[in-house]
Amino acid sequence: MSDILKDKVVIVTGAASGIGRAIAIGAAQHGAKAVIVSDVVETPKEGGEPTTTEIETLGVPTRFVPTDVSKKAENDALIDAATEFGGVDVMVCNAGITLRADGADVTEDDFHRLMSVNLDGVLFGAQAAARQMKAHEKAGSIVLMGSMGGIAGAGITVAYSTSKGGVVLMAKALADALGPDGIRVNAVCPGTIDTHLLRTTPAIAEASEGFRKRTPLRRLGKPSEIGDAVAWLGSDLSSYVTGIGLLVDGGLLSVI
Ligand SMILES: NC(=O)c1ccc[n+]([C@@H]2O[C@H](COP(=O)([O-])OP(=O)(O)OC[C@H]3O[C@@H](n4cnc5c(N)ncnc54)[C@H](O)[C@@H]3O)[C@@H](O)[C@H]2O)c1
Repeated sequence: MSDILKDKVVIVTGAASGIGRAIAIGAAQHGAKAVIVSDVVETPKEGGEPTTTEIETLGVPTRFVPTDVSKKAENDALIDAATEFGGVDVMVCNAGITLRADGADVTEDDFHRLMSVNLDGVLFGAQAAARQMKAHEKAGSIVLMGSMGGIAGAGITVAYSTSKGGVVLMAKALADALGPDGIRVNAVCPGTIDTHLLRTTPAIAEASEGFRKRTPLRRLGKPSEIGDAVAWLGSDLSSYVTGIGLLVDGGLLSVI
């Protein structure tokens, strides 16, 4: 498709399914040198071949590394897996969850479970990648998965919106902390993207038709459209872009 990720070693968390899967396959299509796929299990929730099988058919070296991103040590082991290819250049902290019951009455257990993946998991992945990038003196790119729900709040996703707002600010703070080392950190904020997560989170699935009607482009987004935005942020084409929360939402948050 392009060679904008030529010579880049890319790691994607939560890459068995949905958006992460599209980011990983997209990285291979955009010329990555190697793509490391990580998730808790390798089976795609939406069915089909594992992400690594798809990437192998493109002739790009790939590995699956089982990782629960909420565990710091597992993030460290994931990043170590990039060493055989010369170290990570592009780290995509994509793994994230929603809750079946999220709102003003979200329970303590659910709130902490969500934060452990959506915030702890993103920070631990970014920290581990930044450490290796500095050790290898790489001007790497770290992309965090935010959401339009991290820019505008929604009563049906109180915990989720809180976590994604944190991700957007985390990108800005880490951009400041890591910029002097040449490492860029950005967040991508998808709108309503047609994935397993969308279809199986009842409140979001129900709201999605209303979102679609209000979206200027009048359709849901495709996972590959997030993959292309991430490829751009991972590539040298965005070499002076850091600290942003890039909305990829068909224009939804730009209209009233
Ligand atoms: N689908 C949307 O409309 C939408 C919109 C905005 C943001 N997002 C964000 O995009 C990201 C991907 O969402 P998706 O729609 O592809 O969901 P998905 O459920 O299809 O895929 C998420 C993947 O993350 C993995 N995962 C869950 N917990 C994990 C953990 N602890 N460690 C490692 N992996 C774990 C799952 O196994 C799954 O394969 C999430 O961060 C989500 O919040 C999605």
